[in-house]
Amino acid sequence: MGASESGELIAGSGFMISTLDSPPGRLLAGQIAQLVYSAEFPIYKRVLHIEDVVKLVRCPFGIYSFATVKTVFDASGQLVAILNTRLLTCGSSILTQLRRDARYLGVPALLRVIARSIWYRTKIYGSLEGDGSWHIEHLAVCPTLQGQGVGRALLKYAEEEAKTASAPTMTLEVLSSNVGAKRLYERQGFVAAPPEPPSRFWRQEASQYMIKEL
Ligand SMILES: CC(C)(COP(=O)(O)OP(=O)(O)OC[C@H]1O[C@@H](n2cnc3c(N)ncnc32)[C@H](O)[C@@H]1OP(=O)(O)O)[C@@H](O)C(=O)NCCC(=O)NCCS
Repeated sequence: MGASESGELIAGSGFMISTLDSPPGRLLAGQIAQLVYSAEFPIYKRVLHIEDVVKLVRCPFGIYSFATVKTVFDASGQLVAILNTRLLTCGSSILTQLRRDARYLGVPALLRVIARSIWYRTKIYGSLEGDGSWHIEHLAVCPTLQGQGVGRALLKYAEEEAKTASAPTMTLEVLSSNVGAKRLYERQGFVAAPPEPPSRFWRQEASQYMIKEL
């Protein structure tokens, strides 16, 4: 469950950003799941129990594959923040992965809602699918340490990785009501992208897609 040694120190904080070098054990998966669950993704709370999220995080082939999750630990080894980025390869491969996740979790509702959203995304971002763009799946900093530059540092770190991988753009989705996160993304150069058509399965709250050219 160790994090890679080759991390990057967040200036002035003593926290280290790194990528996990092996699948998370039960304890760490629980901490990651808690951060994912606390982030503003309402579908998780409507469709998934926190234990389902733990399973999703531990799923070896899942959207939380350990190699895609960036972690921030404090000096005592406590998880402080996570960021999960996903390479947009093509719509069908993401769907295949999500189908596997949903089967593994035994949560058919998850499959239905995500499949529908991906279908819309593929329509809206048709030109992005398959061009190696990076999508930020989840960014969350533990509540007691928010406002200290950790979120911004994680975002910059992910952006450098995306640039190294020659990704043309980064995309993300944020709830319209999440003013703090939107401000962070705007300050980092993300701009509003076309909205997703509303889905009665997917959300009751408006959300905003954002995009940054790299
Ligand atoms: C959004 C979140 C990731 C930001 O991380 P953070 O470490 O608290 O943010 P930072 O300290 O790096 O702040 C960076 C910038 O974001 C802005 N910001 C962050 N939180 C803000 C808030 N609550 N209100 C207003 N602006 C905020 C600040 O303007 C800051 O820029 P500045 O210093 O140039 O003014 C964090 O608050 C969080 O985990 N929230 C809950 C989960 C969530 O909403 N995730 C986003 C899902 S899309």
